[in-house]
Amino acid sequence: MSQNMPHGGKLVNRASLDSMEDFSLSLPTVELDYAELSDLELIANGGYSPLEGFMGKADYDSVVQNMRLANGLPWSLPITLAVDHEKATELNIGETINLVHKGKIYGVMDVQEKFLPDKRVEAEMVYRTMDMDHAGVSKLFGRSDVYIAGPITLVKRPKKSKFASYYLDPHETREMFKTLGWSTIVGFQTRNPVHRAHEYIQKAALEIVDGLFLNPLVGETKSDDIPSDIRMKSYQALLKNYYPQDRVFLSVFPAAMRYAGPREAIFHAIVRKNFGCTHFIVGRDHAGVGDYYGTYDAQKIFDNFTEDELGIKPLFFEHSFYCNKCENMASSKTCPHDSEDHVILSGTKVREMLKNGERPPKEFSRPEVVEILIQGMKETDTSN
Ligand code: ADX
Repeated sequence: MSQNMPHGGKLVNRASLDSMEDFSLSLPTVELDYAELSDLELIANGGYSPLEGFMGKADYDSVVQNMRLANGLPWSLPITLAVDHEKATELNIGETINLVHKGKIYGVMDVQEKFLPDKRVEAEMVYRTMDMDHAGVSKLFGRSDVYIAGPITLVKRPKKSKFASYYLDPHETREMFKTLGWSTIVGFQTRNPVHRAHEYIQKAALEIVDGLFLNPLVGETKSDDIPSDIRMKSYQALLKNYYPQDRVFLSVFPAAMRYAGPREAIFHAIVRKNFGCTHFIVGRDHAGVGDYYGTYDAQKIFDNFTEDELGIKPLFFEHSFYCNKCENMASSKTCPHDSEDHVILSGTKVREMLKNGERPPKEFSRPEVVEILIQGMKETDTSN
């Protein structure tokens, strides 16, 4: 398979916008939560190719157990739609239902299956823990108990009130990379502001590929992550001041964060391949939360797949930091000095500093970024 092909060979398109016929208003409805709504859109626009709908039991079991779809193609996270028992009883196999969010119809689904997941198995296999303090695990156990499955069609795009021009579908980013003349593109996932360590590994990657696709996740995140609109402003300021304009492209990834660490790293890579990337950055504790995963578990998990079957080349980076003695960004691979010479701040510490109006040092984060974050946190505080 050529590197830049969508996963499974073909970019899925399950959107049929503004096609709702009047009669369909009378179909049974299922309410999607915000994360399921973003999954619906990403199935429809090909971000999740080759998925054409919410997963049935064969794919679900195979993904949970083996990180592969039933046909053997790598896929690491279940993409499912949950309903409660009462709703499940009302729905009939073979019927078409409306997929609704807050009273609006966004899609339809042909119900092919209803099944009961074993959530303990899903938690253990996907998140490697059943600890309810884990954001992904508590979300999993908070969902309804029956999964319904079948192919979907998106009939209405979820509204993008903020930074609307940064939402691009995979066919659009692919087109954009062509226009820019890039044949090798490295994808970068983030749910955080881009700090110096992120910048360092992005630029190290940029030394060997044509372009950087900065693709921050803006779907559902845990409440103490920095809100996406503040982050977007910080990305714009950073790119404007520190990146060559013709070698970086920013657009958003509307998915929900799962905090599934290693499993999510595989998922993030495959989805970025669908957006047209040939390479994908995986640094320290990718998509991790707390200390549930080892620093490099999200890199080691790639050993389960050949590069050919993934179709995107992971670029692994060590934990990076600014070293006061080197007077440079570095990692244990390049720096001989002790940790007391390294400027390392935890995410929690940085959020705390920003909330108190304290500026993290310029060795940690660019001043232009810090300014926007402090301002943004102040405004969030007063609007709450
Ligand atoms: S994530 O949940 O989206 O992965 P984050 O935005 O912090 O979190 O990380 C984005 C990417 O940068 C991930 O690949 C992560 O592994 C990497 N990364 C974050 N901080 C560092 C660091 N200090 N050194 C090396 N890689 C890092």
